[in-house]
Amino acid sequence: MIAIIAAMRAEVDALLALMKNVHEQTKDGILFWEGILADKSVVLMLSGVGKGNAALSTTLLLKNYDVSQLVNIGTAGGLKSNEEVLDLVISACIVQHDFDTSALDGESGIGLHFVADASLKSLCEKVCEQQQVPYHVGMIASGDQFVSDPMLITSLLNKFQNALCAEMEAGGIAQVCTHFQIPFVVLRSLSDIAVKDDNHLEFMTYVQYASKRSAALCLELVKALR
Ligand code: ADE
Repeated sequence: MIAIIAAMRAEVDALLALMKNVHEQTKDGILFWEGILADKSVVLMLSGVGKGNAALSTTLLLKNYDVSQLVNIGTAGGLKSNEEVLDLVISACIVQHDFDTSALDGESGIGLHFVADASLKSLCEKVCEQQQVPYHVGMIASGDQFVSDPMLITSLLNKFQNALCAEMEAGGIAQVCTHFQIPFVVLRSLSDIAVKDDNHLEFMTYVQYASKRSAALCLELVKALR
């Protein structure tokens, strides 16, 4: 079964609107929706915000469902000035940017990295090409902060020059999927450009649009999956 995870209600609702035969269930306080997307059985989960919520709920998801592939959808904040709101970002890898044991371990203690599934990543690229939507492929920075503060952005980009966007769950999801050897990919749409001023206001304006775009591309990805 294909599993899809989104952190916020707006992100979940955007995908629910595209699903058929939806059946809602709560397990250990986590909301799941089983249903059909593009003629395939899927389970959608609301993870809640942050890496802790994401890791907890992803573990429950994998313990309750027979998951073959996992897609994390939703919004993210762009970290590059050449990015535009609503652009898609596809994970090649994910770094937990706020993981830091460098005081003990030196440079190797900065960030915790996870690699996304190569074929899911390629399929996302193909789907973005087909749909003619602008997209970026590379590193996604995951941490327990809404990234807005210029000092935080400078420090984050100093440590992870290649980070394309910031979000708050993929690091937890990627860690759990890696542990249980479940192929995963992160497919997010930019709700705000964190390196521009007032991105928290931009987020409010674009969260619904970006959620819809990420869900729409997820539908195309699921169509393309074998
Ligand atoms: N999700 C959407 N925008 C974000 C941002 N700027 N920082 C972290 N998570 C986000």
